[in-house]
Amino acid sequence: MSNPFSPAQLASLAAQFGTPLWVYDAATIRQRIAQVSNFDTVRFAQKACSNIHILKLMREQGVKVDAVSRGEILRALAAGYQAGGEPSEIVFTADLFDADTLACVVEHRVPVNAGSIDMLHQLGAVSPGHAVWLRINPGFGHGHSNKTNTGGEHSKHGIWHTDLPAALAAIAQHGLTLTGLHMHIGSGVDYSHLAEVCGAMVELVRTTHAAGHDLHAISAGGGLSIPYRSGDPVIDTQHYYGLWNTARQQAEAIVGHKLGLEIEPGRFLVAESGVLLGEVRATKNAGANHFVLVDTGFNELMRPSMYGSFHAMEVLRKDGGSGAITRPTVVAGPLCESGDVFTQGDGGVVLPRELAEARVGDLLVIHDTGAYGASMSSNYNTRPLIAEVLVDGGQARLIRRRQTVEQLLALEEGL
Ligand code: LLP
Repeated sequence: MSNPFSPAQLASLAAQFGTPLWVYDAATIRQRIAQVSNFDTVRFAQKACSNIHILKLMREQGVKVDAVSRGEILRALAAGYQAGGEPSEIVFTADLFDADTLACVVEHRVPVNAGSIDMLHQLGAVSPGHAVWLRINPGFGHGHSNKTNTGGEHSKHGIWHTDLPAALAAIAQHGLTLTGLHMHIGSGVDYSHLAEVCGAMVELVRTTHAAGHDLHAISAGGGLSIPYRSGDPVIDTQHYYGLWNTARQQAEAIVGHKLGLEIEPGRFLVAESGVLLGEVRATKNAGANHFVLVDTGFNELMRPSMYGSFHAMEVLRKDGGSGAITRPTVVAGPLCESGDVFTQGDGGVVLPRELAEARVGDLLVIHDTGAYGASMSSNYNTRPLIAEVLVDGGQARLIRRRQTVEQLLALEEGL
């Protein structure tokens, strides 16, 4: 339910940079970082928002970074991050390697958070001594949707908990260096299960120690949710840290020395900093429904179509009026597809919203789009990626230019 910007500010940004437009607020990101800074290492899951300038902001605040592809490693390097060191500024997390990515982690000495035993064999064969984390699937998981649950036997993620001894044997076989154990059981997690997660981590540390392996750190993964709707729970980061710190202390008692404690949030650090700004281009009625058609679609913000996710919205009336809406209204985008609708319920059902009555030329502001917005955009319907703007201390800066159709066509023309 967060929009850090004033209507006048958004109107001026729309006039300056055009719509659709992603807008981020640096101050909100810094506040969220401060809320989790009692962890020894805050590692940003950059898949949530991977613009180089956002990564630079993170780095300035002492936040380290997770990368899940060769592209994300190169982005982190472009933002000034360096691999290596303890803890490493960059860690690569995945369940498999392609050949180019394996070569990249070896070249840049990026520690690997391995989600499969095959990764350990493939890495060990070419880079003995390489630093590794083990990402463990504890046998259960949670998420805001079944598409974001990353634990349990239906999840492709992580090394199954009972395979930990086999993973440790692969580490020993190749002389890899174990840095730590990692768990990320899902995104948008229900915290009533946190004690179970922490307990599972302590047991994994016990197994690792008993197998004769030392380790330096444990990672709580990401998954912290944010209040998308009014009334949604707001995460108590002190309580969250407290439970993990207790787990760390229990793990330290097992290994007999200090252990670093990492957290790896994506959404929590950036979601509330961002809005997606669109313009109303048409309105129409269909039976009982009123349609407001805007110039931004699911090729920009995929979350409502993909997960049925709720995003609060507001209409900024060009005439300054604020008449509340009186009829069921569907807010939809320009794509040639029926599911290009932002007002979706959890089951994909279109719901009426409390919006101001919108007219052509008004602005539509979609809240909480700083995470998994721009980073999940596509070129569907041959729509170029849109611009991104970062507002810091009242100054607005273009941090990604709008892509052009010519750039898209150039990849295919002349072949
Ligand atoms: N660490 C790992 C290994 C992950 O796979 C993820 C997210 C995170 C950390 C960060 O999770 P977060 O703190 O943001 O919940 N596109 C979906 C979310 C997919 C998350 C994938 N992995 C969405 O829009 O809700």
